Amino acid sequence: MNSLVDPSPEAEPRFSLHDFAPVQESFEDALVQGLAAPQKAIPARFLYDEAGSRLFDRICELPEYYATRTELKILTDQAAEIAAAIGPDIALLEFGAGSSQKARLLLDALDRPAAYEPIDVSREHLVQLAEEIADGYPGLAVRAICADYTQPLELPDSETRRRRAGFFPGSTIGNLTETDARAFLSGWAGQLGRDGLMVVGVALRAPQAIVLPAYDDAQGVTARFTANVLVRANRELGADFDVAAFRHTPDYDEATGKMTIHLTSLEAQTVHVAGRSFTFAERERLHVEDSNKYAVGDFQALARSAGYVAETVWVDPRELFSVHVLRVA
Ligand code: AVJ
Repeated sequence: MNSLVDPSPEAEPRFSLHDFAPVQESFEDALVQGLAAPQKAIPARFLYDEAGSRLFDRICELPEYYATRTELKILTDQAAEIAAAIGPDIALLEFGAGSSQKARLLLDALDRPAAYEPIDVSREHLVQLAEEIADGYPGLAVRAICADYTQPLELPDSETRRRRAGFFPGSTIGNLTETDARAFLSGWAGQLGRDGLMVVGVALRAPQAIVLPAYDDAQGVTARFTANVLVRANRELGADFDVAAFRHTPDYDEATGKMTIHLTSLEAQTVHVAGRSFTFAERERLHVEDSNKYAVGDFQALARSAGYVAETVWVDPRELFSVHVLRVA
């Protein structure tokens, strides 16, 4: 389905909304299924309710959490070079409606950007971001796409067959397994078309002494962010997680860059959700998030295996974060 809706019938439509009406698995179904699995898990997307999103904003301000500010610094300092690598007249397709800050840095530097196309499952976040960008860039065509970008979809046909650049900042790609990251990249290579680009922010494989504290901060904000998914289950689903009986346990393997975050049960316990009970052994782990890091060369090899040429990469002086421009091969 691809309906064109005027989101503000009173005023001039400032952006279009292409609504694919994505059907999201409910938190209850996902939680019950995840707790019934032999290796218990909750999909990471459920971390971001209102409280979780606020906690993530606080994480970004922590002294230990370098990813967001390092990426912003690269996008700020290297904007002209990145824009030159992307070239003129491009439609910028952003995966996820995060803050408009990163898209603005690119749009401000790009030569006559043709369109901005954010994709997100959350209609509310999407419309807010589209509004902000439409307000700030009067001449720019803004096409909001409400869809799940991890699923295949047909992009709305733009009259002229513009060159497109995907934009996937935030090292969100690190939340995917390597297999899923490859599938994401190769799936979109077809949609971006010949000479299409992908601009990806990727946290780098770095020493444990730097990476681990970023996910285990002294103030315990990240621990609260992780545990919030249990608080949310109690509030929204009437579950009875004893939040204090689980510990936030990030693990990082410096040799591979693999980062996993679990909630570890501190005791043998039983939890009830939606009329079902689930037992945890002492020290049993509930997987909540991956946040994989990549060496520059390893990410480029992954991109090549997904059908891209790795064109350019920018890295900060401490080598903690990278911004890649990939071209569809
Ligand atoms: C928003 C997914 C990029 O993996 O660094 C931060 C989320 N989790 N601290 C990350 C997160 C714990 C963040 N991403």
